[in-house]
Amino acid sequence: MPRKPVLYVTRRLPPNIETRAASDFDARLNAADTPVSAEDILHGAVGADAVLCSPAEKFDAATINALPKSVKVLGTFSVGYDHIDLDATRARGLKICNTPDVLSVATAELAMLLILAAARRAGEGERLVRSGGWTGWAPTQLLGTLVSGRRLGIFGMGRIGRELARMAGGFAMEVHYHDVARLPPELERGAVFHKTEETFLPVCDVLSLNAPGLPSTRHWLNATRIAQLPRGAIVANAGRGVLVDDAALIAALRAGHVAAAGLDVYEGEPKLHPDFLGLENVVLLPHLGSNAAETRDAMGHLVLDGILALLAGQTPANIVR
Ligand code: DGY
Repeated sequence: MPRKPVLYVTRRLPPNIETRAASDFDARLNAADTPVSAEDILHGAVGADAVLCSPAEKFDAATINALPKSVKVLGTFSVGYDHIDLDATRARGLKICNTPDVLSVATAELAMLLILAAARRAGEGERLVRSGGWTGWAPTQLLGTLVSGRRLGIFGMGRIGRELARMAGGFAMEVHYHDVARLPPELERGAVFHKTEETFLPVCDVLSLNAPGLPSTRHWLNATRIAQLPRGAIVANAGRGVLVDDAALIAALRAGHVAAAGLDVYEGEPKLHPDFLGLENVVLLPHLGSNAAETRDAMGHLVLDGILALLAGQTPANIVR
């Protein structure tokens, strides 16, 4: 019988996926689900043909260059691959795959959750009830704002941004977007393209960040751009923490220029700017974007399919180039 490829898995996976990994591979699983360091990765990957990682681990050039020579494929349990130094993987001939498409609906739902929670002050309401301080219904309690009928600006109209646009239709929102290029009509589906930020930002009653975390998008939402949003705008970030200049957003939340924000991702997470914690008008979630159980299963199957294909010398659709 041919030997099964050895797969080192950095984090605990959903049960169905661990079962499949153990059947298709000689799998080294992380039963304890403890976060792993670069040293742990290098140790765990000894003799492995492939590594299945998560966005919580950083694969910088030093780690990639130090990986055992046996490792030919790196699969990431995420659509984002900003935690992997792609230049270093190319230089080393390491093949990469990820989990596109299957998490777009889940992540767009999470973005809509952030928008609604921020607009309707769900975080404050939850804290009030849990504190025991709620004295009952009152006409002026925790007044928020509608999102229905308002203008939604999407920065980054990729697969997740487009799912969010589709969902926003259910709230009769007018969808605007800004990206490097205009989409064809069948993908744009009536959304209004803005070539420039100057026309885009002033129409964003609600601004959702759905772009990847790249050097070119780092701190895209800075003080200058925030100043161009309508006063009282709502900001949601289910993309990547690096998209936001935290100090600028915090200042705008304090000043009321941004009425409320919903954040699922943070620069340097799991650490976050401590001033967010003291702000009532920000809803903070722990990077839950794709956390629907069925989505995580689909991600697991997709990345395992990709790893097997890459090990077999094929080119799966989810290869990262
Ligand atoms: C991704 O897939 O990049 C997500 O951020 C992980 O939930």
